[in-house]
Amino acid sequence: MVKSYKIALIPGDGTGPEVVAEAVKALNTAAEKESIQLEMTPYDLGGDRYLKTGEILPTGIVDELQEFDSILLGAIGHPDVKPGVLEKGLLLELRFQLDQYINLRPVILYPGVDTPLKDKGPEDIDFVVVRENTEGLYTGGGGFLRKGTPHEVAVQESISTRDGVERCLRYAFDYCRRRNKRKKLTLCGKTNVLTYAFDLWERVFHEIAKEYPEVETDYAHVDATSMWMIKNPEWFDVIVTDNMFGDIITDIGAIIQGGLGIAAGGNINPNGVSMFEPIGGSAPKYTGKNVINPLACIGAAQLMLDHLNEDATARRIESAVKKVVANDVKNLSVGKMGKTTSEIGDIVVSYIQQGGE
Ligand code: IPM
Ligand code: MN
Repeated sequence: MVKSYKIALIPGDGTGPEVVAEAVKALNTAAEKESIQLEMTPYDLGGDRYLKTGEILPTGIVDELQEFDSILLGAIGHPDVKPGVLEKGLLLELRFQLDQYINLRPVILYPGVDTPLKDKGPEDIDFVVVRENTEGLYTGGGGFLRKGTPHEVAVQESISTRDGVERCLRYAFDYCRRRNKRKKLTLCGKTNVLTYAFDLWERVFHEIAKEYPEVETDYAHVDATSMWMIKNPEWFDVIVTDNMFGDIITDIGAIIQGGLGIAAGGNINPNGVSMFEPIGGSAPKYTGKNVINPLACIGAAQLMLDHLNEDATARRIESAVKKVVANDVKNLSVGKMGKTTSEIGDIVVSYIQQGGE
């Protein structure tokens, strides 16, 4: 019987639809090679729909999305919508409602790609950040007091629950063991200042570590982690951290692996439906110009196949991406690629068709 997957597409805002279109081309080509079937259903969500109808995440949509095997998302964020409305109302809401409690962000420099790090190459930049994705500063806890007065108070709470911390750490330990590289898990925190939240994180980290004797554990404060990711990225194998720190350090990760043109991640619910996306935003000023790099979204599609355990299909996409960056597009930033969005997508497709490593 032919294996078949139901994939929901959320192209979203700005350049999202352009990059999702290229990822779909790559997915269909690779799936055909491996004789698997991908049944894709697009969802019209994002800034344009909000501006037209006032709807951000209409009732019923989350229930529908639960029925899919996976979701591929382009980008969320519209220049005519106040910052935060779509990001919180759509992207974070999906992550929360679908309980995608892991944000998995590999930081891998492919051969041939420029990194801003002097004297560092693909052998040095190869690690994964496991970011907690449903708690911390992102829960929206807090509020204003005396808003608009000179005595205004703004409180923004960071929530860390034992359950939430534990499930994230367990995922990170499992992932580190499965990844089978250096088997080193670094907890990135701030135990010297955030003495409640990271006390909890650290205690649970050491508790769970006992169940994983083969995984070496390490700890670094977030400020030091940021420095070392640049100075000695080869020290890292898997980094686990909370939501806010994970957000920040994965932008550092993205730039050292070649930029937002290539960086991809997955919002993962190991027991539910996961959602894969390029890390970069909707890039409104490049919308419709066919200039944005689709490789990050194509990489997100590959992570999706990995998550669905379609290893062979995932490897076909990954090796095509590696060939493109080695042979065809050396600089991955907008304006420097020397190729259009759809040209890059076409080259990826032709490499998948040719096959081989
Ligand atoms: C990311 C983004 C989001 C986040 C924004 C758009 C809400 O920066 O996916 O890293 O902060 O998580
Ligand atoms: Mn971010």
